Amino acid sequence: MNPSSLFKAAVAGTGSYLPDKVLTNKDLENTLDTSDEWITTRTGIKERRIAADNESASTMAFEAGKKALSSARLEPEQVDMVIVCTSTPDVLFPSTACFVQKELGAVNSAAYDISAVCSGFVFGLSIAEQYLKTGRYDHILVIGSEANSRIVDWSDRSTCILFGDGAGAVLLKKTDQEEPVGILSSHIYSDGALTDLIVVPGGIGTTGVNKQDIDDNKYFIKMSGNATFKVAVKRMANVIQEALDFNEIKMEEVSLLLPHQANQRIVSAVAEKLNFPEEKIYMTIQKYGNTSAASIPIGIADAMEEGKIKPGDVSVLGVVGAGLTWGSAVIKW
Ligand code: COA
Repeated sequence: MNPSSLFKAAVAGTGSYLPDKVLTNKDLENTLDTSDEWITTRTGIKERRIAADNESASTMAFEAGKKALSSARLEPEQVDMVIVCTSTPDVLFPSTACFVQKELGAVNSAAYDISAVCSGFVFGLSIAEQYLKTGRYDHILVIGSEANSRIVDWSDRSTCILFGDGAGAVLLKKTDQEEPVGILSSHIYSDGALTDLIVVPGGIGTTGVNKQDIDDNKYFIKMSGNATFKVAVKRMANVIQEALDFNEIKMEEVSLLLPHQANQRIVSAVAEKLNFPEEKIYMTIQKYGNTSAASIPIGIADAMEEGKIKPGDVSVLGVVGAGLTWGSAVIKW
């Protein structure tokens, strides 16, 4: 059972931002040796959003963050910390979060980025949970934002069809309410032995940024799809089960599973392993593809807007991402 803490970390507001530009599978048929049928049956994706030339991880994060603040009816000056979870930062440094902080006017916050790729949002949520439960801070904005379209090789049909751009945000607040509410638990893990599964090999390394690496396409996503698929199913199912056991919650008590949106078949395989009904799983992959760290907070914001999350409901988040990283969180709304 969850050890008792001084305070609880409750969700006070949510928001998302998706770029206007839609890229459909049919559009991709014009530039790649692929088909709508292949992409739909292998992944569940029908279309994804693509950031405009004047959009980036920080601009999308700002839009999502602004909505989360407004839905929480909170002034930007009241935010103590801005955590942006992204693998597609605007620049190497300063952090994307600092650009977001400035645009929001969150002048009293500490702002920094989390790099845990697709698992970033759950890692960020877990950090925020600790600061709020100890009473150190009152309000923390956790944002997942990705401009994935800038790091996919648009000539590589095995990866480019999967990813999309967007941002999602959650505003968490400290509360001393007695009944269980907010983040009931979070579990986060990494296994650096699996760094090769999904990787953008370009970076600083030992040589610095160099033209050869650019010519060799090293600044794009490389992925071992099959191996990733198998590991993802196992780790996500296990970490979700761990979350339920930790909270002594039965599967029937969960109103909504909010999984990372990497592949419809991964989610279905996890649901089957856990014996979890598909109708209680919230999916956005068909319209947004894999938006990496943004996928879970976008799902939360969309589910909230559609009235699929009600006060008192219990949701479970589950994710696996590059690193390898993986994790889960249980939220009581
Ligand atoms: N269109 C048509 N054919 C394609 C294709 C595309 N977009 N992409 C790959 N193919 C082909 C392959 O070249 C291969 O052809 P071959 O048999 O002639 O060699 C065939 O389809 C099967 O490829 P395979 O890689 O075995 O397909 P798959 O069923 O494993 O599906 C993924 C590929 C990428 C969709 C799947 O492995 C996956 O989703 N993996 C997990 C990815 C993931 O979750 N990443 C992020 C984690 S956060």
